[in-house]
Amino acid sequence: MTKVSIPRTFRVKSFGCQMNVYDGERMAELLGEQGMAAAEEGDDADLVVLNTCHIREKAAEKVYSDIGRLKREDGTSPLIAVAGCVAQAEGEEIMARAKDVRMVVGPQAYHRLPDMIDRASKGERVTDTDMPADAKFGALPARRKRAPSAFLTVQEGCDKFCTYCVVPYTRGAEISRPFADLIEEARRLVYQGAREITLLGQNVNAWDGEDAKGRKIGLDGLVRELAALPDLARIRYTTSHPNDMSDALIAAHGEVDKLMPYLHLPVQSGSDRVLAAMNRSHTAESYIRLIERVREARPDIAISGDFIVGFPGESEQDFADTLSIVDTIGYAAAFSFKYSPRPGTPAATMEDQITREVMDDRLQRLQAALTRDSHAFNRATVGRTCDVLVERTGRREGQWLGKTPWLQSAYFTGDHAVGDLVRVELMDANPNSLSARVLQLA
Ligand code: 5AD
Ligand code: SF4
Repeated sequence: MTKVSIPRTFRVKSFGCQMNVYDGERMAELLGEQGMAAAEEGDDADLVVLNTCHIREKAAEKVYSDIGRLKREDGTSPLIAVAGCVAQAEGEEIMARAKDVRMVVGPQAYHRLPDMIDRASKGERVTDTDMPADAKFGALPARRKRAPSAFLTVQEGCDKFCTYCVVPYTRGAEISRPFADLIEEARRLVYQGAREITLLGQNVNAWDGEDAKGRKIGLDGLVRELAALPDLARIRYTTSHPNDMSDALIAAHGEVDKLMPYLHLPVQSGSDRVLAAMNRSHTAESYIRLIERVREARPDIAISGDFIVGFPGESEQDFADTLSIVDTIGYAAAFSFKYSPRPGTPAATMEDQITREVMDDRLQRLQAALTRDSHAFNRATVGRTCDVLVERTGRREGQWLGKTPWLQSAYFTGDHAVGDLVRVELMDANPNSLSARVLQLA
């Protein structure tokens, strides 16, 4: 049973991608502005927002088990809102299956949470999965976040319709946020202490807009404008589609010092047959050429990728082609997943679905290759001198953790503060981090 009263404390739990993390932060800011306080770690909250991810099946299952776990010993529950992509895709089912859920709110509607909470506090169960174009960001309060590294969503949605993917259905069509709004949000983040901004979008490199003089610009133009903010030291962006990697964006990697040498560019498979069935509209060869051009512009760039094993019809030869492209590219980092049929997507009903055993075996082999390569990448950076952005204290006394330009975690000791850029020499590589020696404050 849900205790019905106006909530005073809240907790937002985000799953899935960085865009969801960003949305979770903005929801927290919105709730804060309504006079609610974030519940302390370990404390009970009056309102819990589960900001969910729908990209693979386990994520959705997790939501249901999380809802169950929110039940208190006396049988009551907090006011539960399910937000994010599972809410968008399965809102009605959630309302029917989980009686304790009082609100279902999609990723494009969460600016309306205050009104929904009001109604839910009076006992109603409220669903809002509308997709009003552009309305959300304008209706949210200004950014409050204070952290050396901040996310900024610049683009949402996807028009590419890869046959395995739910994103075009859960996040809707591609939209770019207006240039002026982004510059303002970036300025505010920097004013509040951000030294690094990561531009986010499901297809972030498809961002386009008009600059202050009304000229049409792409993501490269936005990066160049942001680079002019004096206290902003680093710019990153994720996630990109190979077909939206413009010549100008590639050139920016060679020309804009503040644009970090790291590119997350998913390829998904190394087999042209599978890529065609995935509707990726690029080939293994065109992807390899593209990476070559990016490396010509910025030779030290770290490349990361996403992979799916066991897409319907994937043969042993197709999988061998994936291992082969991994060898060719030499990824610094990567995420790899077993194919998960998503309801409503074309691939879910394709013939020749791959068995779990085969997928398990291929994932293991792929991950062994990717781990080998990321370790090799880390080892190859040993001896380099670079700046590290200090993000937090480490486990040991006097130890700090930060990120190198290549997005590696580096740890070192000394008298520093969060937000410092510290000049270090990279000393030793572990599989997931590097030790570093401080040279001087950058
Ligand atoms: N099954 C497995 N992995 C998927 N991804 C997206 N959809 C699926 C799916 N149905 C992976 C892709 C994408 C990343 C965010 O998640 O690799 O790039
Ligand atoms: Fe998950 Fe995709 Fe939604 Fe991000 S956009 S939360 S990855 S389903």
